[in-house]
Amino acid sequence: MSQFDRVLRGGTVATATSVFTADIAIQDGRIAALGTGLPPGREEVDVRGRLLTPGGVDPHCHIEQLAATGLMNADTFESATRAALAGGTTTVIPFAAQHRGMSLAEVVADYHARARRGAMADYAFHMIITDPRPELLAEELPGLVRAGHASLKVFMTYERLRVEDEPLLEVLAAARAHGCMVCVHAENHGMIAWMKRRLVERGHTAPRFHVTSHPRAGEAEAIRRIATFAAFLDQPVMVFHISTREGLEAFARARAEGVKLFGETCTQYLLLTARELERPGVEGARWICSPPLREDEDVAALWRGLELGLLDCVSSDHAPYRMDESGKLARGPNPGFHEIANGMPGIELRLPLLFDAMVARGRLELVDFVRLTATAPARLYNLPAKGDLAPGMDADIVVWDPEAEWEIPEGPRWDNAGYTPYAGRRVRGRILQVYRRGELVVADGKVRAQPGSGRFLPRTGGLPARPTGRLAPELDPARNGGASLL
Ligand code: URP
Ligand code: ZN
Ligand code: ZN
Repeated sequence: MSQFDRVLRGGTVATATSVFTADIAIQDGRIAALGTGLPPGREEVDVRGRLLTPGGVDPHCHIEQLAATGLMNADTFESATRAALAGGTTTVIPFAAQHRGMSLAEVVADYHARARRGAMADYAFHMIITDPRPELLAEELPGLVRAGHASLKVFMTYERLRVEDEPLLEVLAAARAHGCMVCVHAENHGMIAWMKRRLVERGHTAPRFHVTSHPRAGEAEAIRRIATFAAFLDQPVMVFHISTREGLEAFARARAEGVKLFGETCTQYLLLTARELERPGVEGARWICSPPLREDEDVAALWRGLELGLLDCVSSDHAPYRMDESGKLARGPNPGFHEIANGMPGIELRLPLLFDAMVARGRLELVDFVRLTATAPARLYNLPAKGDLAPGMDADIVVWDPEAEWEIPEGPRWDNAGYTPYAGRRVRGRILQVYRRGELVVADGKVRAQPGSGRFLPRTGGLPARPTGRLAPELDPARNGGASLL
């Protein structure tokens, strides 16, 4: 009888649907069997009293990404994915970020090369499209989708990134034609630009005014608009990082009307508020991100959205910048809110923070935690071997002591941001070991994976987020003499 490579014996196994006691047998990097009384492995690991969850899938993180301002974020693929593994996330979907005038294919090749060198977690890419020229959509996009890049992100705001309505419709139509998910940063650009100018003109430039500069109504407006476009063209859309009650309501209304929208929020919108930005001087810059942190009522609404099953996943939106001249203070020691890089680190602590907030504090069930942080993002973005503990899946497994309480220290951390927005918090649930494709990559507080050992995960074969088949009447060929306008 051939032996399994390794058997994790007697743990409490949690999936997105159930929690049970079982042994997990690993063979050639995959889960070979799951049950009780499994035959011995060459290595036997006693995990009685431990909780086993699937490796986290972080579907939204910015790694080694060049901002439109020319600023490189603080992490390399090596440092960000080392942090991801340390925090139980074994799969990441960062971005291949086009800037205007660039070839998308060259951008993707560049990010591929960086990830091949450094990544320790498995990875796919969302392509950021800022310049949807007709030839790019017609000539570059189809081949990239066929090569497994089946999702892209567009921005409805940011000076050098935003895609206006007409080209946005072109992107949605091209995505529909090629079977690509569209993820959207939904905030109203005009409202942000107008508010920002007025605040700066009046000298209101402290970090806390970053929050004021992103009107809450602007998120709801953009979500309504993208929902209208998604329904018009029958193209599924993922609304990234929903932050406000009004935004969530707009999202929920569109979903109730049958629009194929998916929704994400992030750890920071569930755990932090705009109060963090009120610290003296430039300190609040650490908490500047977009959309900004909001109010208690928004936090409550987002939790309700999770409880009701409205939101599909919780990502980190890890976007690290150091509190020095390489990052948040690149424009000087006392920058105005409009001169401070947007984003904060979160890839390492997403799972521990959410385990504590959801499970240890009893707000959601363990199965919900697994679904929101691993299973749902894997399904949504077509990563069939990820996000679940079942025979045939990659053996990406997180071993927890679910009762251990600890305080989050400021450092040292595995990422390069140099700080965490969550320092000083006490949380319950500690990650002890992490397996990535059957290999023990985190143990005894150390990350053992080799840079470059992460694998690219091409997403071919279509997305689960297929169109519904209901186009707007104006696009019905029957109304247009049989002609398709798509
Ligand atoms: O502030 C953030 N989140 N920066 C990253 C860019 C984005 O919009 O996700
Ligand atoms: Zn965004
Ligand atoms: Zn982001």
